[in-house]
Amino acid sequence: MIIGVPKEIVLSEKRVSVIPEAISKFAGAQVIVESGAGEGAGFTDMMYSSKSASIVLDAETLYSRSDIVLKVQPPTKDEVGLLKEGSTLISFLYPLANLETVSQLVRRKITSFAMDLMPRISRAQSMDALSSQATISGYKAVLLAADSLPKLFPMMMTAAGTISPAHVFVIGAGVAGLQAIAVAHRLGAVVEAYDVRPVVKEQIESLGAKFVQLPVSAQDAQTSGGYAKAQSEDFYRKQQDLLSEHTKSADVVITTALVPGQRAPTLVSEEAVKGMRAASVIVDLAAEQGGNCALTEPGKTVIKYGITIHGLLNLPSLMAPQASQLYSRNITTFLFAMLKEGKLNVDLNDELIRGPLVTQNGLVMHDQTKKALEALAAVNS
Ligand code: NAI
Repeated sequence: MIIGVPKEIVLSEKRVSVIPEAISKFAGAQVIVESGAGEGAGFTDMMYSSKSASIVLDAETLYSRSDIVLKVQPPTKDEVGLLKEGSTLISFLYPLANLETVSQLVRRKITSFAMDLMPRISRAQSMDALSSQATISGYKAVLLAADSLPKLFPMMMTAAGTISPAHVFVIGAGVAGLQAIAVAHRLGAVVEAYDVRPVVKEQIESLGAKFVQLPVSAQDAQTSGGYAKAQSEDFYRKQQDLLSEHTKSADVVITTALVPGQRAPTLVSEEAVKGMRAASVIVDLAAEQGGNCALTEPGKTVIKYGITIHGLLNLPSLMAPQASQLYSRNITTFLFAMLKEGKLNVDLNDELIRGPLVTQNGLVMHDQTKKALEALAAVNS
């Protein structure tokens, strides 16, 4: 069996799916790595070959020889075209946002697994790439904010006077939000945080932040998987008004609020931005899903009404060596969970394997994606 590690071709993606240290664990399988695949993350071809991986010079060779391809970014149309028919792909896929890619994978009879669909169960913790990468995003968001803010984060008592600490407000206390709270607190800021799921109160407080309670509570805020549920437009409007009372006294607002499969809710309105302290900073980690701030421009840093708004995408790629190290652990642990005597064993009775499975034998296996494709076909017919 040949396992392929291609070079990521999406612009600004510096991560690699498998780092050299992981190669020795693939006993019984041959690993081929596209030349330059690890370059952006600081891993040279020599580092891979010293761990007995073979280096191939181009993507065509890599994809045509690989039985299993391990990737970071969802494949482009061209990349799906290069995959060997009947081969296996493990990658971030976001199938609901990439229906055309899913159709292409079906046509080419690729068995595909989405790392973003890994079930949030304890057995899958070491395979949870959403969490590992969100941890890095949360950390980097605080550093971006600290760098852009023309103020110090910690309180300082000096002979020349006392400097009061910066106020950081984190909206959304999932994996990224909790990490942002921890880092901002360690840098000395006064941190407040809010989440639509009241169960996170204790976690926020255990990190030294104040939990913000709004006088509006979501009906049925959380799914059985721990994710936030979508709420009505009316609810989001109320949230916007109430949150603006907190954003106006913050120096930094970090937003991370996501609802799986939906556009990110708008929680910081244009009015709220206008009302913020001069020169304060917003880091919108939800930019990839449209953003939590009405003025976020995904992929850009803009200044509106004097407020710096970061809508940068793919923050983990800015910390590519360690982001790759964690992702490599996630993806290889998942692969090894399926390998039995050197062969891929797709056990449909195991939720760990069934959950991330998107396509197999020319069929869509992920229910929500299947429904979305059927709905799309009905619209187009
Ligand atoms: P996420 O990235 O989907 O969303 C980020 C945060 O935004 C969530 O905490 C969510 O409640 C919040 N949010 C959504 N809409 C909001 C709104 N209108 N206002 C304020 N906040 C809003 O979430 P993430 O980080 O992927 O975590 C989801 C859940 O999964 C959490 O409960 C987390 O603890 C749990 N989890 C469980 C794991 C396990 O058991 N293995 C591993 C990782 C996470």
